[in-house]
Amino acid sequence: MGNKQKFDGYAAQYDEWFMKNEHLFTSELRLFKKALGDIDGKRLLSVGCGSGLFESYIDCSNIEGIEPSEDMGKIAEKRGVNVIKYGLIEDVDLPDETYDIIYFNGSSSYMEDLAPVYEKSLRALRDGGRLILLDVPKESAFGFMYLLGKSLGTYNHEFLQNVMPELPYPLALASSGVWHSTEEKIDVLKALGAKNFRYYQTLIRNPMYTNEEPEEVSEGYKSGGYVAIIAEK
Ligand SMILES: C[S@@+](CC[C@H](N)C(=O)[O-])C[C@H]1O[C@@H](n2cnc3c(N)ncnc32)[C@H](O)[C@@H]1O
Repeated sequence: MGNKQKFDGYAAQYDEWFMKNEHLFTSELRLFKKALGDIDGKRLLSVGCGSGLFESYIDCSNIEGIEPSEDMGKIAEKRGVNVIKYGLIEDVDLPDETYDIIYFNGSSSYMEDLAPVYEKSLRALRDGGRLILLDVPKESAFGFMYLLGKSLGTYNHEFLQNVMPELPYPLALASSGVWHSTEEKIDVLKALGAKNFRYYQTLIRNPMYTNEEPEEVSEGYKSGGYVAIIAEK
């Protein structure tokens, strides 16, 4: 596709970050599994499937993916995700009323204008299908940390001294993020007619302690550093 994508050149660093932050990854994976629920016999679409890291821990034989970064998507294909399109969701035509679940695991955080993208996704869901959004909320401690790093151009600053996680998320990926608040996304979905909302969260601890041990998933969205919104068509 030619254009350089935000994640091109970061595929190895992205996976490595999760592998080194093993407990943080386990907490996020628990949230991911809880949000997806039973996927047996269902048709799923992962928007911004990346390297398919999370999918590699579940049965991904019915999971299709869309991914703009070839670096990331090629790894997802090796892990068993059926990457149907290399491109931005904004540029892809989706078939109507086709999927049982469409999910964005961390990818809304790299998109400016969410309404057209969620509208397109809702159209592609069957009646009663679920749209699932998992992200670092802008209002969380992680959100503040990424925005501070982005505005300072470094994590290596006196404001952040002795309060950072040992291995923070790569600054380039924190800086290219368009961090949205959870309520901003809920408002967009409500305006589009989505219903029956549910919320789950994890990464309740402050970022510098997050990787000490895996966390449980809890209901709600007001405390977590990683939050799932589940809405129905
Ligand atoms: C934080 S990563 C998450 C990757 C994967 N879902 C995971 O959970 O490991 C965000 C992903 O969204 C993709 N992305 C960014 N903008 C996108 C867009 N407009 N349409 C589709 N995917 C996008 C990026 O290339 C990247 O792979």
